[in-house]
Amino acid sequence: MKALRHLNKYFWKYRYRFILGLIFILTSNIFGLYPPIYIGEVFNIISDSFNGENLPEDTERSTLKRQLAYYAFLVLAFAVCKGLFMFFMRQTIIVMSRMIEYDLKNEIYNHYQKLSISFYKRNKTGDLMNRISEDVSRVRMFLGPAILYTANLLISISLIIPKMISISPKLTLYVLSPLPLLVIAIYKVSSIMNKKSEIVQEQLSKLSSISQETFSGIRVIKSYIQENFAQKQFMTAAEDYKTKNLALVKVNALFFPLMILLIGLSTLFTIYIGGLEAIAGRIQVGHIATFVIYVNMLTWPVASLGWVTSIVQRAAASQERINEFLTEEPEIKNLIKKRTPVAGDIDFKNVSFTYPDTGIQALKNVSFSIKEGETLGIIGKIGSGKSTLAELVCRINDPDSGSISIGNQNIKELNLFDLREAVGYVPQETFLFSDSIYNNIAFGDKVSDNESVHKAAKQAGIYQNIQQFKKQFDTVIGERGITLSGGQKQRLSIARALIRDPKFMLFDDCLSAVDVETEEQILQNIKIQSKNKSCIIISHRASSIKHADQIIVLKDGEIIEQGVHKTLMDLGGDYAHIYKKQLIEAKH
Ligand SMILES: Nc1ncnc2c1ncn2[C@@H]1O[C@H](COP(=O)(O)OP(=O)(O)OP(=O)(O)O)[C@@H](O)[C@H]1O
Ligand SMILES: [Mg+2]
Repeated sequence: MKALRHLNKYFWKYRYRFILGLIFILTSNIFGLYPPIYIGEVFNIISDSFNGENLPEDTERSTLKRQLAYYAFLVLAFAVCKGLFMFFMRQTIIVMSRMIEYDLKNEIYNHYQKLSISFYKRNKTGDLMNRISEDVSRVRMFLGPAILYTANLLISISLIIPKMISISPKLTLYVLSPLPLLVIAIYKVSSIMNKKSEIVQEQLSKLSSISQETFSGIRVIKSYIQENFAQKQFMTAAEDYKTKNLALVKVNALFFPLMILLIGLSTLFTIYIGGLEAIAGRIQVGHIATFVIYVNMLTWPVASLGWVTSIVQRAAASQERINEFLTEEPEIKNLIKKRTPVAGDIDFKNVSFTYPDTGIQALKNVSFSIKEGETLGIIGKIGSGKSTLAELVCRINDPDSGSISIGNQNIKELNLFDLREAVGYVPQETFLFSDSIYNNIAFGDKVSDNESVHKAAKQAGIYQNIQQFKKQFDTVIGERGITLSGGQKQRLSIARALIRDPKFMLFDDCLSAVDVETEEQILQNIKIQSKNKSCIIISHRASSIKHADQIIVLKDGEIIEQGVHKTLMDLGGDYAHIYKKQLIEAKH
């Protein structure tokens, strides 16, 4: 239950709406309190006027009719008022719960965005999605219906029971005694229901992750003719889902009949005991009617207590899961709140980095420096640590030891957002959003004029391609950029970095799917645009970094060769070997 305390701030935020809601609940209950008494009165009047076998006189009859019409009008008027205030109470309390739901979702999403990449590695996407959708809706059930019903219950009990006692304390005691039983029964059934629906939910997320994976891997599945295998996998999961759902339906089907049965029993009980009391002359016949209606009015809120209890339990469990994420601290934090300029030489001093989850040491004692405006080329075999190095520059990870500084300032002492803004990072794996080409390049709110988008596209060597599309810059890229070729995707993500006009460029093997001539052209464009910009180009091709002011060769996380193209060629080591080999390949 402690977990739900997190919501107090929201209750406080919406306190006026909440209090208003409580007032509406009270008002609607007050309007509901009198009709049963009027109905009882009607019974009394009628039974009084039928004295034994004698029918009432004509004159008496017309007064009787008038009285009945009067009470009928009252009952109707009160019912309308009660309904009106019930509408208002839902409009305040349920609306409040929707508002808090909105706030809570935003709070979680906002926190997600702050968390580091390692958090995303530890947690499955499905889990992250569930917190923000499934768990939040459970919490909302507590904020809305649970609170509404509880308040309604408390208010109706405190209004109705004194009225009942004022009529007959004994009868009250008798008819209310089965109610606790009702609560327990409903609680038991709804607990079972919740457990079963949880199992169904779990199976549903399994089912959706299976289909999601199939859709994203559809090319592989088709080319390996594994449609039947995928179908079978889906069918097994769907079968399981059906079985679990049927079990839930069974309990669900029990719920309402059980409620109706219990309510019916308590009505029967009231009529029986009330009848005995009336025969004994302790109450009037009309009071039985009043009691029957009151008991019916009480049973639903009391029964809902069992349901509410299980809602609250579920909400508490969900909020606990949410809090777990909310209390998670981002590993990479922005410690500097003030804006800091990011400029100058980039220095790596004895930088080492080990991935905590795999324990693989990806960089060992790496040192180099890039003068402002110079270009560094990095080459090395698969898994030699090139991408790791790139991620350290924009603080996606922080080094374990050693230091990285820009302009003699450790990058940890720079404003994180200024740093990331200064670095135009094109990651190795291109990621495009399912949006138009234009929006993918402009990405975000900073740049959005046509001219700069077109210019960036030209520099990245994709302008001609885009012109050939029917809708040009408005072409919508399918999910994962499925409508573009590998090289087109890479160039789009380069355009996205270029348009920001960053101080530093960081290209992680992002021209691998482009032919050598186009690569040359793009690098030339970049060079022109980034005349005074420092640049790190990571590549598998020696040709793309041979003009760099400095080249480093990485092997197993260590720098094994360092220098300009000519020095390294003269050295006759790995670089020279790679270069010659690729030169021969290119000629053939
Ligand atoms: N996210 C990660 N978690 C754990 N280990 C990782 C992660 N990324 C990379 N590694 C490991 O770190 C080492 C260096 O990987 P890195 O991605 O830096 O290589 P790379 O030089 O960029 O390779 P490639 O040329 O294939 O892009 C590899 O041994 C890899 O297994
Ligand atoms: Mg890499």
